[in-house]
Amino acid sequence: MKTKYFDLKNKRALISGGAAGIGSSIVEHLCEQGAEVYFFDIDKQEAKKTINKIKKKKFKIPIFVNCDVKNIKKYKSSILKIIKKNGPIDILINNASNDQRHSLEEITERYWDDRISLNLKHYLFAIQTVKKSMIKNKGGSIINLGSVSWVRGAVMFPAYSTAKAGIHGLTRSLARDLGKHNIRINSIAPGSIATDRQSKLWLKPKFKKRNIEKSGFKKTIIT
Ligand SMILES: NC(=O)c1ccc[n+]([C@@H]2O[C@H](COP(=O)([O-])OP(=O)(O)OC[C@H]3O[C@@H](n4cnc5c(N)ncnc54)[C@H](O)[C@@H]3O)[C@@H](O)[C@H]2O)c1
Repeated sequence: MKTKYFDLKNKRALISGGAAGIGSSIVEHLCEQGAEVYFFDIDKQEAKKTINKIKKKKFKIPIFVNCDVKNIKKYKSSILKIIKKNGPIDILINNASNDQRHSLEEITERYWDDRISLNLKHYLFAIQTVKKSMIKNKGGSIINLGSVSWVRGAVMFPAYSTAKAGIHGLTRSLARDLGKHNIRINSIAPGSIATDRQSKLWLKPKFKKRNIEKSGFKKTIIT
């Protein structure tokens, strides 16, 4: 560990999509800082891998909740159960998403609803569910994982990109409402991050090369 953030110790954090990719890394690093971490995911196998990795490193062990965030009723009641049993939430990280490629022509009404459900809808309902407990706690921090995809006009997934644009709108729309309760809300817009899924599916040499060229750097931090 490079830095110790003492104010994260024992903070109660919820993360959606924490079994793999960026979410798994967030889970690991919060555990390293001694936070009390709960992560929601549908991938039991990846969740197990994340927990085992954390156990090996002797960090605080996170709790996995097997939950599809598209099932808003179940997702909300799982969050409320944690609050009831353990106390208010300090940190919410909305992260679960899926960037499956699709063209405009391929989008059916059902697929559109599914993409919005998976890439935007649950963010709002998770915020709505933790708000009361954060107010009771006299503050909190909410972080929404967005994307640069819609800013740079990426063509390979219009429904995903639209949802990601919505996340930034959602963040700004709620900032004043939550801010008066000392709840910070921010969104992060990652560029191309070489997670296992990205490396396996999309980060082929041609795409990598184009990313490096567009970044303006000769070398890249993508490994
Ligand atoms: N990796 C990138 O290059 C990149 C770029 C821009 C933005 N982002 C954003 O960062 C965040 C994390 O991306 P990532 O690349 O780590 O993704 P990933 O696909 O590697 O991981 C996503 C996690 O979400 C889980 N998940 C998917 N559907 C779910 C559901 N219905 N219910 C519960 N969990 C579910 C998956 O099982 C997985 O563990 C996302 O919001 C994504 O849009 C990533």
